[in-house]
Formats: sequence, C-alpha cells, structure tokens
Amino acid sequence: MSTLLAANSRQPGEADFLPLQGTDYVEFYVGNAKQAAHYYKSAFGFQSLAYAGPETGIKDRVSYAVRQNKLTFVFTTALRTGHPIADHVYLHGDGVKVLALRVDDAKSAWKETTMRGGKSYMEPACFTDRYGEVVLSGIYTYGETVHLFVERNNYSGPFMPGYRETKTAYNPPSTGLQYVDHAVGNVGWNQMDPWVNFYEEVMGFSNILSFDDNDISTEYSALMSKVMSNGNGYVKFPINEPAEGKKKSQVEEYLEFYNGEGVQHIALATNDILQTVTQLRDRGVEFLQVPSSYYQDLRSRIGTIDEDIRPLADLGILVDRDEEGYLLQIFSKPVEDRPTLFFEIIQRKGAKSFGKGNFKALFEAIEREQSARGNL
Ligand code: FE2
Repeated sequence: MSTLLAANSRQPGEADFLPLQGTDYVEFYVGNAKQAAHYYKSAFGFQSLAYAGPETGIKDRVSYAVRQNKLTFVFTTALRTGHPIADHVYLHGDGVKVLALRVDDAKSAWKETTMRGGKSYMEPACFTDRYGEVVLSGIYTYGETVHLFVERNNYSGPFMPGYRETKTAYNPPSTGLQYVDHAVGNVGWNQMDPWVNFYEEVMGFSNILSFDDNDISTEYSALMSKVMSNGNGYVKFPINEPAEGKKKSQVEEYLEFYNGEGVQHIALATNDILQTVTQLRDRGVEFLQVPSSYYQDLRSRIGTIDEDIRPLADLGILVDRDEEGYLLQIFSKPVEDRPTLFFEIIQRKGAKSFGKGNFKALFEAIEREQSARGNL
C-alpha cells in the first residue's frame, strides 16, 4: 500500500536547520562535455551559459554550463587520465555527480549537516571574481553523488567564478522546460531506509510518500520507493531500492551498469507538456511507449481533464490523478549508452503525487526495453 504521510515531521515552531531555495544546478560528469552540452542544447532546448577550462585558469578539466528558464545543467570532463573525474566516468559512465542546492548560508548548511552525521565533500569555501562572491560547501549522499550548497546572494555573474560567459551563434529555441521537479536516487538492497534516515536526520527532510512492492510491481520485477521532501517542498528526492521479483528489477539493472548507487532520473517541469514533448520528439529525444490500450479507459480512470486524449496518446503522455488534481508525465529512454540515467517530463495540474497509477504500464514498458537489452 502506498501511504500519504504528514508533509512535515517537524514540530510547529521548530526552525528548519537547512532552509533550501530549490535546485541551483545539476552537474554531470561525462566523457565529452563539449558534445554533451551540444546535445542538451539541440535536443532539450538549453542555451549556452558559461564555460570553464584552461582558458579561464582551470587546468585539469572543462565544464560547460547551459540554462533553460530555472534549469541549469553543467557538463564536466577531465582533461587527463588518472583524474578523479576521469575515474568517475570510467566507473559509472556519464551520470549525475552534483545535485546543487541553493541556500542563503553555505557555511551554516555545511555545519548543520556535518554536525548531524553528513560526510563532508567540501568544506565551506568562498570564490570571487569581478561579479562578486559565491560560497560553496558540500556533503556526500548515496553512492558517489554529492549535494553542494550554493550561496550566491552576493553574485551577479553568469554562473560561477572560474567560468566565463559563453556567446554563440547557435541558439536552438527552448522546449519550455522550467525547473527540477524532483530527482530520484537508486540505492542498493535494504538501503532505502538508511537513506531515508539520512535525509531526515542530516538534512531535515520528511518522508511524504511511500510505495511498497505491491504498488510498484509487474509480473516480473519490483521496486520500493520513498519520497523525501524538504520543509518548503521545493526539493524532493524519491529513493528507490530493488525488490524481489521473478526477474531482475530495473533498479538492479541500473546498479549493475552504474556500478553502484546514483541518480536514476530527473523530472523536469513544463507548463505545456504537449508542446514540450512534441518539440523534444522532433529533436530526437526518445521516450518510452505505453500500449495504446492505456488510453482506452483513461477517461473513466482519470475523469475530466483539460487536454484531448488523442494528442496525449499520439505522444505517449501518461495521466494520473490524486486528491488535489492531476498530472501529466512521460519518461525518456536512457540518455547515455548505459541503461542508467533518464529524464521525466512532468506537468502538474494540482497533483502533488508522482504518478502511482502509471507505475504498472510504465514498468512494463521499461521491462520491454530491459528485455531487448538482454537484462531481464
Ligand atoms: Fe519521477
């Protein structure tokens, strides 16, 4: 049974020791940052924002920052063998290294979280250039993934000290993607609850929703999931672990190919999913396809919605309803060669949940892909 829990476990009046303003950026360690940035511009509609590398005084790596509305992605590649970033890519393939969170006080964020048992990744450090200062600090989360705390109230530059603004003649239009709705972590067997505890104790998050293997299972495979949210709800991190099924769970496939725990998918919000997904498809982003039978009884399951069913079915967009409204969502295929990271595109129309009603149809679609890879 899924359980909707109290939104916040803090007592009334108790202060949030880790106030977060949302996701600041997501950094990917990749094999070829230049080409990755081009893909996210061409296919997803990001714009070039800033660059760091030897030309800006960073000798060991290059980073390309791209932006679309409130979304900032950074792609980083090491320039030489034996570099920790090169090792990361060798081990995990392209993937998410940093889920950076915006704070007013990066020193306090580091102190409060490490004091509660968070493992330090980066002690608070101040970086300055002619645009002002950015203070960064960070802690480890699951696998080799980290949370950086970014304090940039006194900074007016394009992205970060060490970067220079990128001007380019190649500026493909936006696809309407707006911000990170949630970012999901895959963790190992029996590791979901320890990481739930981590987010509760170290970061002051609450468990707002739980799914067990009865909710998320097909004939073959299963997983369990708990959704962690910070106090104001701006940052939501569902945590998945595999569950016993007849065949290999999609989470196990991920853990095998990522060589450990890491970010499974990032959900990107849009205000017009029909427009966004049409654009993404036209630009070569591949999505999971549910059978057309999914749409036959949609109206009776979901009730009245603003959209026509036909265009939703043509694009493969899924719909789910909860007590507060409904949501539209679709999932991409993995965006790198390993069957690891993928994206969700989501439009919320009141619903605050995560599409539980779609899990079965969705996981059957994932299993068809898994099976085609010989990993089921
Ligand atoms: Fe999701």
